[in-house]
Amino acid sequence: ESGSGKTPLALAFESLRGSRTDAVVVPEGYTAQVLVPWGTPLNGAAAEWKHDMRMTAEAQAERVGMHHDGMHAFALDADNASRDFLLALNNEYIDQAALWAPQGGPTNADSGRRPADEVRTEINAHGITLVRVRKDAEGRWTHVPDDARNRRFTSATPMELAGPVAGSDYVRTRYSPEGTHTRGTNNNCANGYTPWGTYLTCEENWPEVFVNTGERHADDARLGLPTERGRYGWETAAGSEGERDDEFARFDVTPRGNGPRNDYRNETRTFGYIVEIDPYDGQSRAVKRTALGRFRHEGCWPGKLVAGEPVVFYSGHDARNEYIYKFVSDAKWDPADANRPGEAYDRLALGAKYMDEGTLYVARFDADGGGEWLALEPDTRVADGRTLAAALSLAEGDRAGVIVHTCDAADLLGATPMDRPEWGTVDPSSGEVYMTLTNNSRRTEADSAPTFTNEGDAIEAAGVGYATAPANAANPRADNEAGQVIRWRERGDDATRFDWEVFVFGAAADDADNLSGLTERNQFASPDGLWYDDRGDGQGILWIETDNGYDGVAEQTNDQVLAVVPGALSHASGQASVVGAGNQQQLKRFAVGPNDCEVTGIFATPDKTALFINIQHPGNWPADADAATQDATHVTSGSVRPRAATVVIQKADGGQIGV
Ligand code: FEO
Ligand code: CA
Ligand code: CA
Ligand code: CA
Repeated sequence: ESGSGKTPLALAFESLRGSRTDAVVVPEGYTAQVLVPWGTPLNGAAAEWKHDMRMTAEAQAERVGMHHDGMHAFALDADNASRDFLLALNNEYIDQAALWAPQGGPTNADSGRRPADEVRTEINAHGITLVRVRKDAEGRWTHVPDDARNRRFTSATPMELAGPVAGSDYVRTRYSPEGTHTRGTNNNCANGYTPWGTYLTCEENWPEVFVNTGERHADDARLGLPTERGRYGWETAAGSEGERDDEFARFDVTPRGNGPRNDYRNETRTFGYIVEIDPYDGQSRAVKRTALGRFRHEGCWPGKLVAGEPVVFYSGHDARNEYIYKFVSDAKWDPADANRPGEAYDRLALGAKYMDEGTLYVARFDADGGGEWLALEPDTRVADGRTLAAALSLAEGDRAGVIVHTCDAADLLGATPMDRPEWGTVDPSSGEVYMTLTNNSRRTEADSAPTFTNEGDAIEAAGVGYATAPANAANPRADNEAGQVIRWRERGDDATRFDWEVFVFGAAADDADNLSGLTERNQFASPDGLWYDDRGDGQGILWIETDNGYDGVAEQTNDQVLAVVPGALSHASGQASVVGAGNQQQLKRFAVGPNDCEVTGIFATPDKTALFINIQHPGNWPADADAATQDATHVTSGSVRPRAATVVIQKADGGQIGV
């Protein structure tokens, strides 16, 4: 495929051995620097972080949040885009032991009443951090305290609803009787960005912070809303001394009164969305774009952008036997709407233009290597001939209802249950899409019958969901512990058809089902973060990050970053992997994280001299010494209060990463 005279891209580093230390490991000739760890103050007046500092709600509200995940860079001006930009960073969830280390742990974490100030602090440790970062003349990165665009969005920040669900009965609450606003965004895992210069943050495991001890909405049951206690017991602080209004009661969504004006039953329906943020305007609101569906959104990735064509976003629902989705805008892309870096103007109006009206599809992967996008429209016909709206017991034409019940609708259309879709990424020249399927302990043998999560003995009823699903072509391994990466390409002649294949299967080198021929130097499991790093000439590096739950690999190495230069779509059988023994393509281990972490979040600067990754939930890292050196590769001695952090990997000679 490289017959056009271009120089084939090749990875020019030695694949790392596995590592299990309290340090980040990078190839020889590379450096790794800790940047903006949890607790870093966003303004210059705040006290510096200290390992024994007691976090408070007020302090956390003006500091970097916890458990860094997806992130993206927003250039302030095109000429300095590789050395000075706004970093938008998800803070997915919290490590209560680290947060409350000075007092020996959280109060009543598992039972009993949580103190209001602790809950408020935990709420403020979640969400999104926007912080300006820049590189100095020596190549060291620092954040810029007091930049007017530094800010936090937390699980309490007021946000707008937009798109089909906004203003509908489904989202009328005590807080917003008109159904137009909500409070907070939660468990923001992976991310995305738009061509018009906004950040997309995605609500993944948000059901866990709520509880409903009574009758759940069928859609909430489908999504696994807890029935005894929320993940951190935030609801138990309701009515406590120091509580303001109903700031904690809203997490208990049990119906108590005679409608949503009297209780919190609809709070959950204001979550599960893609949230749009304009990083350039320090006063802008966050908007939940409901047209892109309601589920446990891992992330949201723009497809290949073509002038005069719709704007496309791909997203996945990260839960066992859930689905992959595509949103196609009604509006056609106008290049005049492209981001103007650094300028403040109404980008959210462009978000409304491209993200509030369009069609949401869910994917069916066929055994012949083809696939179909199934439209989640109220009038789409299901197998028995009814409309989707009728099959969901909704009024005809109820678009908001279909969105609220996205997963049920996908069930009814016969979408393919997947092995936990995590990150996606798009090759901007070919338009090929990659997505990680991290693992699935509830994948059963191909000849087994499916089972269901809630009441029902068939998927043709709303609120059911697959508990177990038999292996299929795209998810071919029962009890899939190691995961795989799939790849698809839209068929240009038919907007609803695509071709797909498995790109690589995770495995331990000595596994019987090591289908991609992995070795001691590139074995991996549970692929999660993913980024196609376009290097021009139609070539690029696919970076794969892991969040490993599989002992076969975890006994050999901590979570890691791998790199591979993908070749062209090689076949359409759907069965084989295109990375494998004897294949010209090389899959190499580029970095390894510290003990107990996952590695997630990734991008490179436009000049490709710095690769940014995140270390989430480390066990005993970064080393105390890093306060002075910021060296992410420094092995921790003794024990430290762990802090999730961004890590910047650069070459000591300033050259491009990976090559
Ligand atoms: Fe938060 Fe699916 O990872
Ligand atoms: Ca994560
Ligand atoms: Ca993830
Ligand atoms: Ca994961």
